Amino acid sequence: MHRNYWVILATMLLSACNSGGGQDQAQTAPTQSAAPAAEQAPPFVPRPKADFAQVRRGGELFEKNCAVCHGQKGEGGANWRQRDASGKFPPPPLNGTGHAWHHPMKILRYVIKNGSPGGQGNMPAWKDKLSDAQIDEIIAWMQAQWPDQAYQAWYQINQRAQK
Ligand code: HEC
Repeated sequence: MHRNYWVILATMLLSACNSGGGQDQAQTAPTQSAAPAAEQAPPFVPRPKADFAQVRRGGELFEKNCAVCHGQKGEGGANWRQRDASGKFPPPPLNGTGHAWHHPMKILRYVIKNGSPGGQGNMPAWKDKLSDAQIDEIIAWMQAQWPDQAYQAWYQINQRAQK
């Protein structure tokens, strides 16, 4: 009797862990992140399967339009945290080592479409040159460069922004 109890308990615990993977966890992530303790170690959210064709097209568009400023792999300009002689910021990295992953999807799209706000920086506006789908392809490529940790943090931020 006693022994059975432990077997059942262990099975329950195991299945509780297993159910944490995949979609289930993706859905519970926002509520869990509300607690400060969970904030430091948010639950691991598996990345959605990359659409390789989309990422490849994004990489080509990036190389053609963005690499000249943001670097071949999105590594950004030197000293990108400091204003240059003209008082403007150099192009930041987009490969996960900067702060692009702090921005939810709608802000990333907005920045790429509209560029730096009126004369305040050197990021051009792309809304007349790239379609919405092309901008999303570039973002998909950018995100493919991000280390898991940056993607995880972005995921939480993006979830919160959608509420
Ligand atoms: C002429 C240089 C230049 C080109 C070309 C350029 N950018 Fe930028 N980009 C910048 C600069 C400079 C900033 C910093 C903005 C500021 O200081 O206002 C920036 C900022 C950004 C940001 C915000 C990053 C953050 O961490 O907040 C994103 C996203 C971005 N660029 C994406 C792109 C994409 C995608 C392309 C190509 C379609 C592109 N950029 C092309 C210069 C450039």
